[in-house]
Amino acid sequence: MKEKLQGILQAAKEQLAAAVDARALDEARVKFLGKKGELTALLKGMKDVAPEDRPAVGQMVNDVRAEIESIIDARRQTMAEAALAQKLEAETIDVTLPGEEVIIGKEHPLNIVLDELKEIFIGLGFSIAEGPEVELDHYNFEALNIPKDHPARDTQDTFYISDNVVLRTQTSGMQVRVMEKKKPPIRIIAPGRVYRSDAVDATHSPLFHQIEGLVVDKGIRMSDLKGILELFAKKLYGEDTVVRFRPHHFPFTEPSAEMDIQCYRCHGAGCPLCKGEGWIEILGCGMVHPKVLEVSGIDPEVYSGYAFGIGLERTVMGRYKIDDIRLFYENDVRFLHQF
Ligand code: DAH
Repeated sequence: MKEKLQGILQAAKEQLAAAVDARALDEARVKFLGKKGELTALLKGMKDVAPEDRPAVGQMVNDVRAEIESIIDARRQTMAEAALAQKLEAETIDVTLPGEEVIIGKEHPLNIVLDELKEIFIGLGFSIAEGPEVELDHYNFEALNIPKDHPARDTQDTFYISDNVVLRTQTSGMQVRVMEKKKPPIRIIAPGRVYRSDAVDATHSPLFHQIEGLVVDKGIRMSDLKGILELFAKKLYGEDTVVRFRPHHFPFTEPSAEMDIQCYRCHGAGCPLCKGEGWIEILGCGMVHPKVLEVSGIDPEVYSGYAFGIGLERTVMGRYKIDDIRLFYENDVRFLHQF
């Protein structure tokens, strides 16, 4: 019995040593340890062993089974390691190859300048207000002293949603919305999208952006408006920026003005950038009309205020010398990556 066991162990060792893959290992396992395997067959012959020898023989069979099992495990382990090593060898990465470029988005030029504008006004004590782009006719026109038959409506070709609802043509309606909610002192800017049914060309887009400004308090005067807007222009365009105010007309301010900056390219001499004018128009502004204060629930006898409206696209086009407004909305990465 003992020799037989030694023989089986020896044969198993040889076959396992010769096994080249997992399948060969498995075949050997079945052959020696399986139900119909050699060890099992040997156990069946236990009945011929003298009863007093059976425990010792049984122990020997178990020892041989354990040894074969541990050889199989060890072989399996070595084979797995070899397979991994081979795989690593075959799949070596060439670290000198150029990597794949990760394309990272860029901030849109309109947002770059808008952020700068916000920073400037926040620094001057303003806070930011937001309002709806789908707006009541009341806020977009009526409350701003632009009744239904007013010629100013013709200059702002309006997208009507219904008789009384429009896509806002200007951010000026925010003046009224803010004054209705907040009592003076008021000091806000309200940036946002506006819409006009203009045909698209190099300087017109049916969607563009404005930044509305509003200051209301006791004793606010035109000189406050001029001071703040001149300060703003110097912060945005540089300390040596020269500004001028030209009388103008807006229905919701009285008096009204437009602010120009002296052309930063030719310094007033006249060049293609300023179309020979020497000046570039930057914004519209004025003292809030008493009617607008009143309709918003603020007593014009006690309070006064000023307002201004800046065109964002125009500001950014001037800043970066962009000559076609359509570039802002086409999302061509070759354009966007320049900023
Ligand atoms: N809303 C005017 C426009 O779209 C711009 C404007 C002018 C706004 C004068 C103002 C202002 O607040 O006081 O043309």
